[in-house]
Amino acid sequence: MNLTGGKISGTVLLTGVTGGLGAELLPRLLRRHPDCEVAALTRGGTPRQAQDRLEAALDFARLGPEERARVSLLHGDVSHPRFGLSDADWRALASRVGRVFHLAASVDFDLPLAESRAANVDSAREVLAFCGEAARGMRDFRLNYVSTAYVSGRRRGRLMEDELYLGQTFCNGYEQSKFEAEQLVRQAAARLPLTIYRPSQIIGESSEGRIRKFFGYYEFLKLAERGRMPVLPADPLARPDLVPADYVCEAMLHFDADPGAVGRCYHLTAGLERSLSFERIFSQMYRELAARRLDGKGPAKPRMFRPEELEWMASPEELRRFHLSPLKLLLRTYRAYLESERDFDCEATQASLARAGIALPDIESALWLSAGYALGARFGQTGRAGAARSGAARQPA
Ligand SMILES: NC(=O)c1ccc[n+]([C@@H]2O[C@H](COP(=O)([O-])OP(=O)(O)OC[C@H]3O[C@@H](n4cnc5c(N)ncnc54)[C@H](OP(=O)(O)O)[C@@H]3O)[C@@H](O)[C@H]2O)c1
Repeated sequence: MNLTGGKISGTVLLTGVTGGLGAELLPRLLRRHPDCEVAALTRGGTPRQAQDRLEAALDFARLGPEERARVSLLHGDVSHPRFGLSDADWRALASRVGRVFHLAASVDFDLPLAESRAANVDSAREVLAFCGEAARGMRDFRLNYVSTAYVSGRRRGRLMEDELYLGQTFCNGYEQSKFEAEQLVRQAAARLPLTIYRPSQIIGESSEGRIRKFFGYYEFLKLAERGRMPVLPADPLARPDLVPADYVCEAMLHFDADPGAVGRCYHLTAGLERSLSFERIFSQMYRELAARRLDGKGPAKPRMFRPEELEWMASPEELRRFHLSPLKLLLRTYRAYLESERDFDCEATQASLARAGIALPDIESALWLSAGYALGARFGQTGRAGAARSGAARQPA
């Protein structure tokens, strides 16, 4: 295998292909590198189930027959020792892989810390062990590791790309496990050529709003559509950081091809200036819902309260309905993200991407398309619990 100047002519190991980001990255990766082959590490109770799950992701990615032929199944679990492969298979894989895109993670905010760690820290450890083996025989080996901008936890103020631990605490086990995983990855940067990416909350790609998994923003949209949002529990002026999936993927592929990106960490975020306030996001959400009704009358937009003020500002009827609604549970999961905004520094990264022709799409129009796509797709088959329901979490055979 020869990897020069960002050209990939051998095997790429991709984890997380069945996920929202992975299914968006795969077609872009194949098109950008027409000679590369991709081994897609995929879970499933049996090899057949894993193959079916991979096929569904390839269908979503709208791959043509020639592109599909370049993607092979690697049935395994990234958090298991040697991905659940035999020692011989693991070594054989390492001998032919020149690039790794490690996207797989459990993004369930409600898991206990131990389970998030088992999913996200163990998998980072396994990927690093694999990369150590693969890099020994491969001159231009690179690891692309997807972290999250929320490794900053509860810290506020300007959040920088080169910072990691500054005494912060975390909003949930997901954030903490991703932080611990990024710590491991950063430690490995002394011996491995790697690049870290920190997206904020990912929404659909900006041309059609397509995405394969629906959580975060989409869970509120789903409740709004069903008229199960008696109040809007968010700081109206806070601007959540939402970023379209295509921008994240194009940025990763760009930096993967840039030798100067080795050892760097990038915020793939919109930044406060380009982000919309909750007031605007929810107004747009209810406009979209109304626009889809023949009579133009969707569910009425409820009143918005800062989460900490809800109990004493909402009317008795609003509170009664809130306490009976699924929104109450959702608020437990997302409260920390609704009550204030994060200021992820991304100026230099956005400028460098813009010079390469990768502009951050307009967030309002991407969000509009994302809402339309999710509603049209009936929020797909799988949500955050989808993997467990589909048997993906079981051990590979
Ligand atoms: N979505 C966001 O808003 C967001 C924001 C910031 C960062 N990120 C990061 O972006 C990456 C991709 O997230 P996503 O949005 O695509 O999440 P997602 O839609 O939930 O997909 C997660 C992917 O990881 C796979 N996976 C999880 N555990 C695995 C294991 N033990 N072995 C093999 N595969 C495993 C899942 O496979 P199954 O189908 O088998 O479950 C799925 O393909 C993650 O690292 C996440 O932390 C996401």
